[in-house]
Amino acid sequence: MNNFVFSNSTKAYFGRGCVGENLPAELSKYGDTVMLAYGGGSIKKNGIYDEVTAILEKAGKKVVEFSGIMSNPTYAKVLEGGELVKKHGVGLILGVGGGSVMDCCKAVSMAAVYEGDLWNDFWANIGVVDFTPTPVGFIVTSSGTGSECDGGAVITNEETMVKCGHDYHECNARFAMLDPTYTYSVPMKQVLAGSFDTLSHIMECYFSPPDEDNISDDIAEALMKSVIRDLRIAAEKPDNYVARSNLMWASTLGEYRLMKIGKSLDFQCHYMEHQLGAYTDCSHGEGLAVLHPVYYRHLYKHGLSKFVRFAENVWGIPRGDMTDEQLAAAGVEALARFVAEIGLPTTLSEMGITDREMLKKAAYSCAISKGAYKKLSFEEIYEIFLEAI
Ligand code: NZQ
Ligand code: ZN
Repeated sequence: MNNFVFSNSTKAYFGRGCVGENLPAELSKYGDTVMLAYGGGSIKKNGIYDEVTAILEKAGKKVVEFSGIMSNPTYAKVLEGGELVKKHGVGLILGVGGGSVMDCCKAVSMAAVYEGDLWNDFWANIGVVDFTPTPVGFIVTSSGTGSECDGGAVITNEETMVKCGHDYHECNARFAMLDPTYTYSVPMKQVLAGSFDTLSHIMECYFSPPDEDNISDDIAEALMKSVIRDLRIAAEKPDNYVARSNLMWASTLGEYRLMKIGKSLDFQCHYMEHQLGAYTDCSHGEGLAVLHPVYYRHLYKHGLSKFVRFAENVWGIPRGDMTDEQLAAAGVEALARFVAEIGLPTTLSEMGITDREMLKKAAYSCAISKGAYKKLSFEEIYEIFLEAI
């Protein structure tokens, strides 16, 4: 196993009723003014807004609302939030939502404190966070990204047409509250997309060196099997608490840095999807579902032993008289069939993405992974996009 440093500072509260039970005590730690950050309004329809504002009121907090955080949050929105925090002397940013809200809040927590060129110093380049971002806490309403317990904030810069993010430990939320029943109102399309995102995070770690036996890969196989099992159950029975709670916690673990321990990490598929997102504003999880099988058809021969393990241990495919290459390819096709089976899109066309010129620009502006089994060229990324149409 490679050398590693592991830490994760976010305190997670999990389970039915965890917000009512624990939010008052957490609120008492962070001053008088709370910024309540949320997205396009789903929390007003499903009752979560009323529940949280009642707790804030009872705790005597002055509340500053920061609403309208969009899916694929923009840098302009981050700067807007940063100004609000400064103007009102906010002591806690309370993000209530999915990955987009949480990411935006973490970026806002930096924007509120940092005086320099935030984008250039922390997104375009990897920076050193030598200041304390405004404290952030999360109430998760939609799972998949694992943003609640990592330090990443994936932001779209609409001027440069780049979507990216880096995991800054200093940006981890102080606490995250995960009540699986809060996710019941998420549309099934988003449940599927979010859960595929979780699967993707695990695969992005698993399909990278080293290939010798290591605990990260062992945990990854167990977690991938859980996500596949629970997603099948949730797709049939959306209010199955066991499946929904497993999916929610798998989502957290997928980005908890646990699966990354000792691994060189791929994340090429994420880089490709992020650029698709920058150009088309598409759903992150759906983009990943389309791209992963296509990407892995390009990759499996370069990481053959791991792809063979994937076929046998995750999909339970018997070797029979197959060669390693045939077995590895069968594992990739099992993944492709699973995407179709649960009802995720299998082509970019199904997502309304067909513009080849745009795809070329997205491909040629894509980040290239240094930890993947194979280093892709821009041409090959473009080929993958074209094959995915
Ligand atoms: O905006 P509202 O009205 O809240 O509606 C949202 C949104 O339309 C809705 N939703 C959320 N909770 C709901 C609900 N609808 C009904 N009931 C609820 N309880 O779901 C829709 C999608 O939400 P969004 O937050 O955009 O989706 P997701 O959680 O998939 O987050 C995607 C973003 O996270 C980034 C992605 O790139 C993308 O920008 N990622 C962040 C990562 C990280 N921080 O580590 C890692 C990921 O790889 C990913 O890149
Ligand atoms: Zn993701």
